[in-house]
Amino acid sequence: FRRGYCKHKAGPINHIIRKDEKKVTDVVDVEDLLSMIKPGGKISFCRCWKSQDWPYCDGVHKEHNKCTGDNVGALNIVRKKT
Ligand code: FES
Repeated sequence: FRRGYCKHKAGPINHIIRKDEKKVTDVVDVEDLLSMIKPGGKISFCRCWKSQDWPYCDGVHKEHNKCTGDNVGALNIVRKKT
């Protein structure tokens, strides 16, 4: 954290995703990503760290937001129709 950035005691954001790893880092090849999305379609990546279908959003962020008052949502990658 930058000095003075967080005024609250820091706690883990990740409670379920690949907890056996020292750090959860992912790499996405943009060409592979394009092949996964049909023209006019989208793919949604989880940013709440609660999805059971990690790294994809399974919609559980809605429950998280309702319970905590948070406002997190997915990263949606869209592909234009050609
Ligand atoms: Fe995590 Fe949707 S389930 S952002």
